[in-house]
Amino acid sequence: MEVITSIPALRARIGAMRANGQGIGLVPTLGGLHDGHAALVEAARAAGDLPVATLFLNPAQFSESEDLERYPAERDADIALLKAAGAALVFAPATEEIYPPGFSTRISITAFEDVLCAQNRPGHFNGVSLVVCKLLCIARAERAYFGEKDWQQCLVVKALVRDLNIDTDIVTVPTARDSDGLALSTRNRYLTAAERRLAPQLYHEICEAAARIAQGTPTELACAEAQETLTLAGFSQVEYLECRNAETLRLAPSPGRGARVFVAARLGAARLIDNVPVPA
Ligand code: PAF
Repeated sequence: MEVITSIPALRARIGAMRANGQGIGLVPTLGGLHDGHAALVEAARAAGDLPVATLFLNPAQFSESEDLERYPAERDADIALLKAAGAALVFAPATEEIYPPGFSTRISITAFEDVLCAQNRPGHFNGVSLVVCKLLCIARAERAYFGEKDWQQCLVVKALVRDLNIDTDIVTVPTARDSDGLALSTRNRYLTAAERRLAPQLYHEICEAAARIAQGTPTELACAEAQETLTLAGFSQVEYLECRNAETLRLAPSPGRGARVFVAARLGAARLIDNVPVPA
């Protein structure tokens, strides 16, 4: 598995790969990889694509108060994981390759800008959109794979490719979880042993809220009680715990099909997010 750092070399390599008729499946990552990322590569392979993974810690999507400086950068381990998962190629550019001196373009995406993570991370999805747009333009992949833990990010990226007529299909892959239900996340590494034992409660409380909503409990009540339980359990700040339409992200006071329960909460040094469907 080749590791490429320059855009011209990547394009040449992808051109050669495409010559044998297979599609390219892009798997963008920030590094700090885990089995959830391996699942994205495996999904690309299962769909018949040649998985091209990117390792790029994108500064544009971190605010000054966030964890860019301590975000796990473990290039060798990340490359080994991608190789084991079956990636055909890794693109691991330096920051200047993506944002060279004089780079001045910004993307401002207003879809979903006033809900969920966008409220607590201003500018975050503009930074994600900028780098995803660049990576899709560079690779010209047939498909790109994103994890559903970041459900709002999946919707933002779908809006981006639709609005800018980018010719790549966005494929979403179900959230990978540890055996106790905790969604896999790079930021789980920030948890102490005691916090790690508590963390799966996040998943269990949103499953419980979703089940109660399906059984007829008013959504606001089910969500408020789940939030209260998490706070009492020791989550330091529950930023949101809400039931919203899966496609529009509008609040779903009386959910029909396609509602989901979304949560973001802080536990120690980690900010954890998750979401589950309300059973039909
Ligand atoms: O989800 C992530 O890891 C990042 O936001 C992404 C899509 C790789 C863009 O930097």
